[in-house]
Amino acid sequence: METALAKEYRRLSRDPGTHQPLAYLRLRRAIRNVIEHRDIEPGHALPSERDLARVLSLSRVTVRKAIAGLVEEGLLTQRHGAGTFVAERIIKPMSRLTSFTEDLRARGLNPRSEFFERGIGEVTPEESMAMNLSPGVAVVRLHRVRYAGDEPLAIERSVVPAILLPDPMLVDDSLYEALEKRGCRPRRALQRLRAVLLNAQHARLLHVATNSAGLSIERRSFLDDGRVVEFTSSWYRGDIYDFVAELHTD
Ligand code: GLP
Repeated sequence: METALAKEYRRLSRDPGTHQPLAYLRLRRAIRNVIEHRDIEPGHALPSERDLARVLSLSRVTVRKAIAGLVEEGLLTQRHGAGTFVAERIIKPMSRLTSFTEDLRARGLNPRSEFFERGIGEVTPEESMAMNLSPGVAVVRLHRVRYAGDEPLAIERSVVPAILLPDPMLVDDSLYEALEKRGCRPRRALQRLRAVLLNAQHARLLHVATNSAGLSIERRSFLDDGRVVEFTSSWYRGDIYDFVAELHTD
């Protein structure tokens, strides 16, 4: 039987839009896609290297190289003698512009939010500088605690120009889904990460001790035409969230 992974690999090999001439990078992309689409669930095994090589007519060296990169990124784990498995820890690849909801769903977790604020107001001087908006412009503000099931993972404060998202109630669980529906999903983002100690208020919301290690992340996302679509400040729990970046020499 043709597996979802073999299908995806063949699809990527045919699709000129995603054409990737190097077979190991194509296979890596295919594995990433099937994990994100949950065709292979977290904790489940990938077909063996030998089977993949045979089914996809690739050398074992190519298959091994594709898998090694994903093991380094933390998306896959290898257990000696048992094989290669889809990782269960929450790992956020840093080079992809994805949403909290997508990151969690890709790992088979159940993302949800509790809102403290979901309203509309006037841009503050700080926001207007960060977002390149004129003073007095209307913005939507979201202040939420983000959960995986019952486990709080992060606190986020997002600001979006009301001209792009006129009604805060359009955001149900996912901001990016709401923006996507309006044709203004971010295409590019700048992100700043800092190690912090979580203050008493943040620690209480995240169910950890005051002064626990956390990550503060600021993201400014842009549309294709350069307009800022969001300015989000987040505080993540340092004990369960990993950020992984793939680095290239060229
Ligand atoms: C991440 C980013 C935020 C972004 C959010 C969107 O958490 N740090 O900048 O606003 O994803 O996630 P969602 O679409 O689930 O609301």
